[in-house]
Amino acid sequence: MANVLAIETSCDETAVAIVNNRQVRSSIIASQIPFHQQYGGVVPEVASRQHLETINQAIAQALEQAGLGWSKIDGIAATCAPGLVGALLVGLTAAKTLAIVHNKPFLGVHHLEGHIYATYLSEPTLDPPFLSLLVSGGHTSLIYVKDCGSYETLGETRDDAAGEAFDKVARLLNLGYPGGPVIDRLAQQGDPQAFALPEGKVSLPSGGFHRYDGSFSGLKTAVLRLVQQFDKDGGQVPVADLAASFQVTVAKALTKRAIACALDYGLNTIAVGGGVAANSGLRQHLQAAASEHKLRVLFPPLKFCTDNAAMIACAASDHLSRGHISPLTLGVESRLSL
Ligand code: KG4
Ligand code: ZN
Repeated sequence: MANVLAIETSCDETAVAIVNNRQVRSSIIASQIPFHQQYGGVVPEVASRQHLETINQAIAQALEQAGLGWSKIDGIAATCAPGLVGALLVGLTAAKTLAIVHNKPFLGVHHLEGHIYATYLSEPTLDPPFLSLLVSGGHTSLIYVKDCGSYETLGETRDDAAGEAFDKVARLLNLGYPGGPVIDRLAQQGDPQAFALPEGKVSLPSGGFHRYDGSFSGLKTAVLRLVQQFDKDGGQVPVADLAASFQVTVAKALTKRAIACALDYGLNTIAVGGGVAANSGLRQHLQAAASEHKLRVLFPPLKFCTDNAAMIACAASDHLSRGHISPLTLGVESRLSL
């Protein structure tokens, strides 16, 4: 079976991993979060520069951790889209260069396909079809996974992504960046029933929209209005209660759509991926609702929920085993549907 080395640099993690037959041989993740924290979010130029600084060392570490030399690598992959263009270019250029130098096949992987494949790292025997719920900083998608490379998007967000909503609400509560983990932690100490917040209903599908679309901008605005009201009244903002109420509302909204979609399409497995899959509220809610409906829910281990290169290598190795390779002229795209 093939060893695939993959590079993931679509946002603020410089990640390199080697995967063989859905088994992780090595996984290096150099987070840039400390470099972006002072700006309250990811600064694209800083991200590109940091990827450049870190990439060579991360590649060397991935090989060393796996105990492999280049002669044992059968393919080299990188995330090609979507993401920050400058950041993607660092990883893609590195992968193409290594493919030329070492005379290996090269594969470009869609970042969301990588998040779908994260599930296979802990469930290597999982077979399509299944429903993938992808909830990250940039995406909130319900995807019907039919086969390797065959996906149908059944739902998206019409405005903010789930992780983006966590990050924006954290910012307006002065909790820093990234917001998801902080809200998750604070929510454990708060009352989820303290505030009734809107789940974000959307109108029925029309012109380019999907049946299972959602929306988070109204929820974010509702939190903003509450914070403004507390400020106006001179009261202290009950941060933990707000965090808990916000989190439970997001969890309910995502759960409702995912369950309805799985039942309507007759899919008995929901595989969750993306940074927000780490959220304890979503995990509890979705798990409970799924068992009520006799559906199976799979969450990757936390380290493979957020961005990593093992998921990219896993997708690339499946494609490689089917004889798929990418041309060396492949470029990066900031936006690209699956
Ligand atoms: O998948 P990811 O690492 O990057 C993207 O592809 O966007 O997701 C990052 C997002 C951030 O918005 C972060 O706040 C959110 O995932 N996140 C969480 C948690 N851990 C990370 N959101 C809610 N609860 C968490 N525990
Ligand atoms: Zn991601």
